[in-house]
Amino acid sequence: MGEAPARGRFITLEGGEGTGKSTQAKLLAERLQAAGIAAILTREPGGSPGAEAIREVLLSGAAASLGPAGEALLFSAARIDHLEKTVRPALEEGSFVVCDRFADSTRAYQGALGGLKQDFIRDLERLVVGNTRPDLTLILDLPVEAGLARAEARRPQSARADRFERETLAFHEAVRGAFLAIAAAEPARCVVMDASASAAGVAEAVWMVVEDRLFGDKVICAPAISTTKSLT
Ligand code: TYD
Repeated sequence: MGEAPARGRFITLEGGEGTGKSTQAKLLAERLQAAGIAAILTREPGGSPGAEAIREVLLSGAAASLGPAGEALLFSAARIDHLEKTVRPALEEGSFVVCDRFADSTRAYQGALGGLKQDFIRDLERLVVGNTRPDLTLILDLPVEAGLARAEARRPQSARADRFERETLAFHEAVRGAFLAIAAAEPARCVVMDASASAAGVAEAVWMVVEDRLFGDKVICAPAISTTKSLT
């Protein structure tokens, strides 16, 4: 029997609205690539054609009337497709996968809506994610009001806030608390990052964590990626 094929590493970025996850996910994927490491950038909800179609339904608010359990099932349906079509094939090829939001967002957001049985989200996650659990999760943390203000500032004037941005301040506080609780409960997987610094500053901190957690002593020659075009 030959050796098991090398599996790539799965890195997820999580956090509330306007914490800069998308910018950081992009910078991290680019920096890995610049270091000669195969890496793809993807996101949830979305990341595969089927999941992107479900994303439209979820973010428009059209599914809000299904209630938290119904929305959690839709996020999970999107996740099944994304994992099957995009994430697992990349990991099996040995590529790194950098994903903007993943299952912790279901725990935090659908959990914060309330009314779900305690085990529902946990059991659902186990069924959907299986063994494809993240190797590293970076939780970008920022006071809720600052994050919502950033999200508002970047939104085009013609666009309406999405289904979750429209939720109350108390909801977003609960989401932030949920992410911090996940990080405290799973310190081997999760690292909380202060997202209040500049994009370049956060990117540097992210890279140090990735080097430390995933490369150990190996020195990776990866130039910092310019953030000038990515500050959104
Ligand atoms: P997106 O535009 O990607 O938000 P952001 O720029 O803040 O990352 O929209 C994703 C929204 O969907 C966001 O408000 C969080 C929410 N969401 C959930 O409620 N549950 C989930 O499982 C996921 C993946 C996202």
